[in-house]
Amino acid sequence: MSTSAIHSAEDARRLARRRLPWMVFDYIDGAAGAEAGAARDRAALDALTLRPRILRDVSDRSLSTTLFGKPAQRPFGIAPMGMCNLASPGADLMLARLAARYSVPLGVSTVASTPMEEMIEVAQGNAWFQLYFSGDGAGTFKLAERARDAGYETLVLTVDVPEVGRRPRELRHGFTMPFRIGPRQFLDFALHPRWSLSTLAQGRPQMANFQMAGYSFDRTESRAKANWDTLARLRDMWRGNLVVKGVLDPEDAVALKEAGVDAIQVSSHGARQLDSAPAPISALSDIRKAVGAGYPLFYDSGLRSGEDALKALVTGADFVFFGRIMQFAIAARGEAGLGQLWDVLSDEMSIALAQIGATSVEAAKV
Ligand SMILES: Cc1cc2nc3c(=O)[nH]c(=O)nc-3n(C[C@H](O)[C@H](O)[C@H](O)COP(=O)(O)O)c2cc1C
Repeated sequence: MSTSAIHSAEDARRLARRRLPWMVFDYIDGAAGAEAGAARDRAALDALTLRPRILRDVSDRSLSTTLFGKPAQRPFGIAPMGMCNLASPGADLMLARLAARYSVPLGVSTVASTPMEEMIEVAQGNAWFQLYFSGDGAGTFKLAERARDAGYETLVLTVDVPEVGRRPRELRHGFTMPFRIGPRQFLDFALHPRWSLSTLAQGRPQMANFQMAGYSFDRTESRAKANWDTLARLRDMWRGNLVVKGVLDPEDAVALKEAGVDAIQVSSHGARQLDSAPAPISALSDIRKAVGAGYPLFYDSGLRSGEDALKALVTGADFVFFGRIMQFAIAARGEAGLGQLWDVLSDEMSIALAQIGATSVEAAKV
């Protein structure tokens, strides 16, 4: 096998780093502040162990599960990420095709680089719309109505961005959305011709959900006005599944459950918001205790392997999501790279299940 194949998420990251302009790599890879939060997430995941169990005939294993009553072929999906087409032209639709193939949810960001209508069609319904509250909220509710009209059954309200976190790596490159090309970016792009020729030739990626009349969005506009009344209004208008993403506090989790939210996503936004936030994997076990068994809990942040994902599942999550590493795989090797990384993650989880003497994630939890 070629030495440039992807055998781990770190391989994908290393290859992506070579191909992407520094500005784009640092936008995807970067985290808040001094990135101590990202290191804390990693350390907390590494500190968790899975105990091998022996002689249990684990020859017949399955990674399938159910999610909101529907079968999914993996207990992991794809987290919502803005502007994925910066990783490579067509990245959004590669993710949508992957979601369709495995019947797993693809998070479609408010600031996705492909319109939400096209995403859910290509994902064959396996798409959840991720909503940001912004400004006075008028545009937010319009977007939710549009998602409903496009056939989305699940809405994910992201609540951990009252203000966009300060990410020095983005700031240093002058990253904005849509991005400007000044002398510094020009040099960066010139030094990464493969990316520049393919991506810039297709036109700069845009925040596609705002290309239609009647919508506007400023990534830097404050989202700080959202409160519990906003949530109650959203719960009233949204009849489908409502997930709230970006929860790290057990009291908040209990209040969300009482407010009629269908599932909670424990997440630190991949350490991109509050550098001092607790490691979300530690918050997960506390939140599971607070909401009780049986309440749907999802998890993302810092997962870099199938073993990491399995740790989150046995710690109390019913389903987990990968973020950055999906974009790295695409930046590294396009759609084939994405497929390779997906297989790596699946194999890692399946092999880890065998090692701990379980034939399914359900069995691993007991
Ligand atoms: C480049 C990038 C863009 C993101 N954009 C969004 C977004 O628009 N909405 C959102 O809810 N989360 C967004 N996230 C956060 C992800 O949904 C997820 O919480 C995070 O990536 C998980 O951590 P991981 O990347 O370590 O797996 C973004 C993350 C990255 C890396």
